[in-house]
Amino acid sequence: MKNTDKLGNISETMLITVWARAVETERKGGLIKDPAAVEILKAINYDFSVFNKAVMSQIGCCIRANVMDRQAQAFLDKHPDAVVIQLGAGLDTRYHRLNCPDITHWYDLDLPEVVDIRRQLCPTHPKNTLLPMSMLEEDWIDQVLAHNKPVLIICEGVLMYFDDVEVQAFFAMLCQRFEHTTMLFDMLVYMAKGNAKHHDAVKKTKQKAEFKWSLLNSKDMEQWNNKLHITEEYYMSDYGCKRFPWFMRLLWKTPWGYKRLNQRMIQLDIF
Ligand SMILES: C[S@@+](CC[C@H](N)C(=O)[O-])C[C@H]1O[C@@H](n2cnc3c(N)ncnc32)[C@H](O)[C@@H]1O
Repeated sequence: MKNTDKLGNISETMLITVWARAVETERKGGLIKDPAAVEILKAINYDFSVFNKAVMSQIGCCIRANVMDRQAQAFLDKHPDAVVIQLGAGLDTRYHRLNCPDITHWYDLDLPEVVDIRRQLCPTHPKNTLLPMSMLEEDWIDQVLAHNKPVLIICEGVLMYFDDVEVQAFFAMLCQRFEHTTMLFDMLVYMAKGNAKHHDAVKKTKQKAEFKWSLLNSKDMEQWNNKLHITEEYYMSDYGCKRFPWFMRLLWKTPWGYKRLNQRMIQLDIF
């Protein structure tokens, strides 16, 4: 059994998303199929039952992962020679969910203590390399640019844990280093910013990371640098999942609730 004691507060949250995908996989007609997540969960020494009541997160993580799987697949359909990098990959096995596409290369990056765990739990593939480093440092950029191929950056469930200064510095770094690239990421429910203590799953973790970043209007990012373009934005509630609690489905019907209580999956192009 793999111990999770060395994980920091943000890294511990990867246990929520892998738990969510494992639960969904075992559900008949579930939103996502991730058999690797089921096996990973069995091999981790952690009391996942603390998340049993986190219904919103469980469904939300799976809709998000499913939408981002489809966005990633669409990019690969257009660019079969792509290089993909997942930043803050945690224990996500998207490369395997997409049936190990024969692209140029797929990188999964996370902090060294996470990669140490991931190396022992996740399926491997010659075209799937792990990068133990911080996404906020530039080293990974040299690695992906060296291929001289179209690059897709995926950053799921991560940016919300950085503050405004860190997020803006991160995008400034991307704009400086990339001529052209596509990035998929998610925008935290706006009202959840500063409110992780009320979040159904994060409040149950041992170290309780805080939600520090979200924008009411994603397009505001375009003001940070003229190379940033929000090209797609998907609202969680548009996926009409009837398993969400009735009061949330009601709130999402109001313009106020739609905008402030919705998680969003975003495609951003840098050019
Ligand atoms: C909620 S988890 C998301 C994991 C995965 N993307 C998923 O959707 O299952 C957040 C991840 O961000 C990673 N992370 C936090 N700070 C990071 C940093 N500076 N560089 C790279 N990864 C980081 C954590 O270790 C953790 O794996």
